[in-house]
Amino acid sequence: MSGALEAVRTRRSWSKVTDEAPTHAELLTLVSAAGRVADHSSLRPWRLIELRGADRERLGKAIAKSEGDKKPSGKPLRAPLLIGVVASYRKSKVPRWEQEAVAAGVAHMLSLLLDDAGWGVFWRTGSYTRSKAVAKAHGLKKNEELLGWLYVGGKPPRARIGRRKAVDARAHLSRMPGKTKYRDDATTRDAGTPGDGDAAQA
Ligand SMILES: Cc1cc2nc3c(=O)[nH]c(=O)nc-3n(C[C@H](O)[C@H](O)[C@H](O)COP(=O)(O)O)c2cc1C
Repeated sequence: MSGALEAVRTRRSWSKVTDEAPTHAELLTLVSAAGRVADHSSLRPWRLIELRGADRERLGKAIAKSEGDKKPSGKPLRAPLLIGVVASYRKSKVPRWEQEAVAAGVAHMLSLLLDDAGWGVFWRTGSYTRSKAVAKAHGLKKNEELLGWLYVGGKPPRARIGRRKAVDARAHLSRMPGKTKYRDDATTRDAGTPGDGDAAQA
């Protein structure tokens, strides 16, 4: 089994994390790799914002403002590091939804890489994610939108291994209606030989 398949199969989200966090330097390596997602016209329509320490309190205040609460929200304090995921839309023939897909792809890829590196990650949003106060606190420009935050910290040593339902691939992978027969019918080939199908259909 390839390392990627194993990493994806075993990843999970960690709602509770410890106070340990990856360093800025560690993040740079992972962000550089995550940025290798498929990207139409290589627009790089995304950026990430690192929130540590008191940054999280400032976010707590912005959340309270957008919710009309007097007390700062304590939500951002649930992890030592939050990574704000920003879609930075470029002027381009590439539509906005494709650019948002790239930004989301980077966040998924970074979550996976962090998990694989031993860190606990939880992607969170809220009704305040795209509020004015929260955008201002992050210094977002007019062409930018938040996609939420990756809450990152250490994996607690004695955490319960939460069960995840297996994904029923057959319920999610199908053919077009009125299906035609493939020249070399890859659907009948043994699923355990990845790569063969590519060659047959090329
Ligand atoms: C864009 C996005 C936003 C999310 N926001 C929340 C959230 O605010 N609260 C929450 O409980 N889960 C949220 N989730 C789901 C969790 O990150 C997580 O995927 C889910 O709890 C399932 O756990 P698993 O990843 O271990 O299967 C969000 C996921 C995505 C992709």
